[in-house]
Amino acid sequence: MKYLFCLLAIVVTLSIQAQTTKEESINLNQLWKFMQGDNLAYAQPGYDDLGWKSIPVDKIWEASGYDPYDGYAWYRLKVIFPSSLKSTSFLKDSLRIYMGKINNFDQTFLNGSLIGSNSKNVAPGTRPDTLFKKAPQGLWDVKRPYTLSVNDPRIKWDQENVLAIRVFDEGGQGGLYTGDQAVSMTRISDYLVMDNAKNPYTFENSNLSKTITLRNISESYSIEGDFSVIAINKLTGDEIYKHVSKNLILQPGQLQAFTEEIKKPDQSAIITYKFDFSKSGASSVSTDETPYITTPSAPAEPRINGASVTAARPGKPFLFAIPAAGKRPMTFEALNLPQGLKLDDRTGIISGKVDLQGEYRVALKAINEKGVDSRELIISIGDRICLTPPMGWNSWNCWGLAVDEQKVVASAHIYRDKGLMNHGWTYINIDDGWEIRGDLNPKRDPKGDILTNEKFPDMKRLGDSIHALGLKFGIYSSPGPLTCGGYTASYSHEEQDAGSYASWGVDYLKYDWCSYDGIAKDTTLAEYKKPYFVMREALNKINRDIVYSLCQYGMGEVWKWGGEVGGNLWRTTGDITDTWESLREIGFGQIKNQSFAKPGNWNDPDMLVVGWVGWGPSLHPTRLTPDEQYTHISLWCLLSAPLLIGCDLQRLDEFTLNLLTNDEVIALDQDPLGSQAKQVIVDGDIQVWVKELADGSKAFGVFNLGGKTLNYNLDLEKAGLKPGGELRDLWRQKSLGKAGKTSLLAIPSHGLMLLKLK
Ligand code: GLA
Repeated sequence: MKYLFCLLAIVVTLSIQAQTTKEESINLNQLWKFMQGDNLAYAQPGYDDLGWKSIPVDKIWEASGYDPYDGYAWYRLKVIFPSSLKSTSFLKDSLRIYMGKINNFDQTFLNGSLIGSNSKNVAPGTRPDTLFKKAPQGLWDVKRPYTLSVNDPRIKWDQENVLAIRVFDEGGQGGLYTGDQAVSMTRISDYLVMDNAKNPYTFENSNLSKTITLRNISESYSIEGDFSVIAINKLTGDEIYKHVSKNLILQPGQLQAFTEEIKKPDQSAIITYKFDFSKSGASSVSTDETPYITTPSAPAEPRINGASVTAARPGKPFLFAIPAAGKRPMTFEALNLPQGLKLDDRTGIISGKVDLQGEYRVALKAINEKGVDSRELIISIGDRICLTPPMGWNSWNCWGLAVDEQKVVASAHIYRDKGLMNHGWTYINIDDGWEIRGDLNPKRDPKGDILTNEKFPDMKRLGDSIHALGLKFGIYSSPGPLTCGGYTASYSHEEQDAGSYASWGVDYLKYDWCSYDGIAKDTTLAEYKKPYFVMREALNKINRDIVYSLCQYGMGEVWKWGGEVGGNLWRTTGDITDTWESLREIGFGQIKNQSFAKPGNWNDPDMLVVGWVGWGPSLHPTRLTPDEQYTHISLWCLLSAPLLIGCDLQRLDEFTLNLLTNDEVIALDQDPLGSQAKQVIVDGDIQVWVKELADGSKAFGVFNLGGKTLNYNLDLEKAGLKPGGELRDLWRQKSLGKAGKTSLLAIPSHGLMLLKLK
């Protein structure tokens, strides 16, 4: 193997994990005092907080019994700052009060004076006001180091100090939550920003490359030390690469970039980036894992993919683009189409409407210069739609409220240009942010019709352009007066809104509880169901099929009644984010709802967090490792979950495209039986989930939730699987021969083997 390193310069920001030895620090991951509401007197050192409750700071406040709670709350802690902090430190000039990450906005006070807000130090004497909660979104994920000069009169050395944090939670999770809060003197390592997260790995021919940057953010100190990069094969533990740059000197403000290039691996390597500071003896460490491609490239011959069944109600507009991979140009045939439908044989788009109820078996054919592929498609015309989980793209996890028409249209074009639609990807869904802004009061036109904002000048034009590609168009609203993002929503205008959706050609509605909190009388099931019935009725009156997606985070065990209120899918949890903790908690928590999934009714563990995400406007490559991403897609397919890509499709890289276009994996999700996988084995860090398939075979995932590679001897019978059948590795699309009674599998940490047993 050949590895090569070179230097280049670019601009960066971002994080390091500091690991320092000798220098003293005070751990603030203790129980703090906590009070909901807002009162500036809480910042004062003399304030009597004896009656306040205690709260940990290593988890969001919802996890400590404040669920749901959004809005203001205060944290207080009394703590002595010993002078030994100064005597044991290497640098002597400033004190660093580190609050970890805070969800969403903070003002931090020391002994009654404001010292920092939303990750920035504030000048001494700054008056606290409420503007801090108007800060940009995304601050929940930003670290809060506040620094004070060692001589700052606000610090009381060797005496009790009072730290008070005023938090405003905009919605969803709230409060201090990272558990790494601490006070120390500012260290030399605090001035080194090692960024290995801003740039993703890129594939170039047979190599994989990535740029990592080191930046000295100090204005006065130079940083000296050794920088090493070590790569360890995740499965074998072998060191496959080591490179040390000795005696590096970074002048104040200086940035150095290192571009690393390694041969494409067939599994992940853990890369450790370490900087050893020569004078203080401290070191900073960051790690990541290299991507690897498993999906074999699609052949040039035609191959029809995607669901084998599609549905519409009688007399409602029908649209279906035959998903077929293979060399273009391609032509299509569809024999035995029901009356009312026609095929465009050049694009493969079937459209029209069918009046007569029935199950129509259509023989599809895709033809190109390399060959022909045929497949049966069942067109079901009846009361039920959404017979396989919807597959699409949604704007939220990438663009958040910064979504606009151009971004939506671009996504639709990428579906075609990158061939995603050839694998069954169909919906293009706008989440929150298309409506006119509410600013506390919803706004409508004089007739009461919903208005869009300036970023969406013509919804009908947008819908038409999506349909012209053979794709479907999705939209978002709330049963309350305002959406979660503060835009106008549907309360008291449900029929009018459904009418607008019909006139724009909408095919999918995500209906998000949010401000309905202020309308619901109580938390009974009747109140939970009510607004969803109202919109269902409204949707029943229009001349279109609209897939109805309930979003109320699982309240009242929605899986038990989501079907009754006419939902085709329902969110079972709070919002996902691109961390292993979030993925693990949500994905592996889909147990109680298992038996409620069926064709037309799906549990929705939220959208995908692979690719470039960020909730807009600025995005980053997902923080999930490649193995975590394989786990994510595999688990969602086993769970028959709706698959909604949440990334910026304009920045789709080779690895992400490979994750999203493995037809054997997608086939699990789209299996017409619609049976959600069951957790059948929990053995330490290993979990086995089994999904029954329509052809009588079973698919299963053997997941390793632990931090180390495990060699697991799977007992097939214990997992409810019969030895003797043909085993297939679905990601590699490769047969593994006959299954024995046991199977020894090497599973990387946070990764899995996804298998099918015939
Ligand atoms: C809620 C939902 C998200 C997204 C936002 C939009 O948080 O759970 O999926 O729709 O609202 O504001």
